[in-house]
Amino acid sequence: MELIGVLCSLPFLPLIIFLLFSFPLSLSFSGKSYEKRMKKKLSLPPGTMGWPYVGETFQLYSQDPNVFFTSKQKRYGSIFKTQILGCRCVMVSSPEAAKLVLVTRSHLFKPTFPASKERILGKDAIFFHQGEYHSRLRRVLLRAFTPLSIREMVPCVESIAVDSLRVWEGRTLLNTFHEMKTYTFNVALLSIFGKDEILYREDLKRCYYNLEKGYNSMPINLPGTLLARILTRIISTRRLTGFRGHDLLGSLMADDQIGLTDDQIADNVIGVIFAARDTTASALTWILKYLAENSAVLQSVMEEQEEIARSKEGKLLSWEDTKKMAMTCRVIQETLRVASILSFTFREAVEDVEFEGYLIPKGWKVLPLFRNIHHNSKNFPDPEKFDPSRFETTPRANTFMPFGNGSHSCPGNELAKLEILVLLHHLTTKYRWSIVGDNDGIQYGPFALPQNGLPVRLTLKS
Ligand code: HEM
Ligand SMILES: *[C@@H]1O[C@H](CO)[C@@H](O)[C@H](O)[C@H]1NC(C)=O
Repeated sequence: MELIGVLCSLPFLPLIIFLLFSFPLSLSFSGKSYEKRMKKKLSLPPGTMGWPYVGETFQLYSQDPNVFFTSKQKRYGSIFKTQILGCRCVMVSSPEAAKLVLVTRSHLFKPTFPASKERILGKDAIFFHQGEYHSRLRRVLLRAFTPLSIREMVPCVESIAVDSLRVWEGRTLLNTFHEMKTYTFNVALLSIFGKDEILYREDLKRCYYNLEKGYNSMPINLPGTLLARILTRIISTRRLTGFRGHDLLGSLMADDQIGLTDDQIADNVIGVIFAARDTTASALTWILKYLAENSAVLQSVMEEQEEIARSKEGKLLSWEDTKKMAMTCRVIQETLRVASILSFTFREAVEDVEFEGYLIPKGWKVLPLFRNIHHNSKNFPDPEKFDPSRFETTPRANTFMPFGNGSHSCPGNELAKLEILVLLHHLTTKYRWSIVGDNDGIQYGPFALPQNGLPVRLTLKS
């Protein structure tokens, strides 16, 4: 489960974070006396801390995490304190608080991750950093995933989508999430290695699955894993041949400006695969579920896509075509809202922070609860209803954050939307699918996912 995986490793966090982050200089003497002044005046947010050390871990574990968060929110409002496995946290679920933590005062809230994530990802991955190293990496990633860069990928993404669907055709029963992961993995490799992707696909896939398996079963550090070794080999081959790709790896290797070591490059390649594959596969899985359950919505998506297919007369999709998919885009948005694949994220206060008269003490974890924001009727009336038409008007700032916001927001969001649109184009124009079994549960692996990965039957339309 998402929360168990995430929270189990919390006790080790302070140590790891001390080793990994150099604290900003804001903890100066004047800062501290200000801190002391604030502590006297301000009170902590409402909420209960539970038993010493254990805190409210049992309550959280014994119920659906959403029930825990939602009942807390009902009782205490949009900001409350709690304690999970020895970590004191403040959970926030108002757009204003999320904006403060992620955007306007993000320098006061540093990224902090469960140690388990660091084990698979490597300490140099972008997620864990702040400051100069983070912005250097982020510039490269943002540039690699701008519309201008990814529009060139459309034909290759389309051929990966068509191939995937063809493979699925022959099967009677599909695990949607499992199959979508293959698709989103291949697109992630395309964005990193360009057309060379196909050369490395099988090797990288095998190693990535091993890395995941090891990470789920054994709490050991895996420096120099097989995957990192393959990456180092690819990097040195490129150096030897002088090949300068227009892909992400090429940009990361443009070392005159960027100055990254091979280890840093490898950690970030693995990081991008990790950030890109399961999130996007989970979004696609939820979309298949919601479309199967809402036939009127499916009908309008189909009509939109068939219209585009007719205008193409068999030619390949272009970037411009993907801009004509307004209805399908709203389905993606509404899916990301209802499913809230990343239920929340983590930060840690680097100094005492005042918010709406409350004190968020230095060292406490701060969790913006995206799912609660997305499911609050103040932000989205009748929030449990799947209704893409609500996105005909733009949501208010910081009420819809499937990709986060601020300095760590998702640099891959345009690519994610593009690959979803391209797959849905071929899926809805050529195939039908139906859900097998009853499927109302959610599992967290670690991202929110329909129970059992959504088994479906897929058939060609006659
Ligand atoms: C539907 C699919 C996706 C969702 C819902 C999603 C969501 C998110 C969110 C919420 C964050 C911010 C986390 C935080 O602030 O703590 C994030 C960060 C990130 N995402 Fe995505 N993402 C998706 C797809 C992708 C793809 C396709 C890529 C790469 C091609 C990607 C790469 C990243 C990276 C590298 C970061 C870290 C950025 C940083 O720390 O500066 N994501 N994603
Ligand atoms: C992110 O925050 C800024 C500043 O508050 C806001 O203008 C923008 O709309 C926010 N983005 C989202 C996706 O809510």
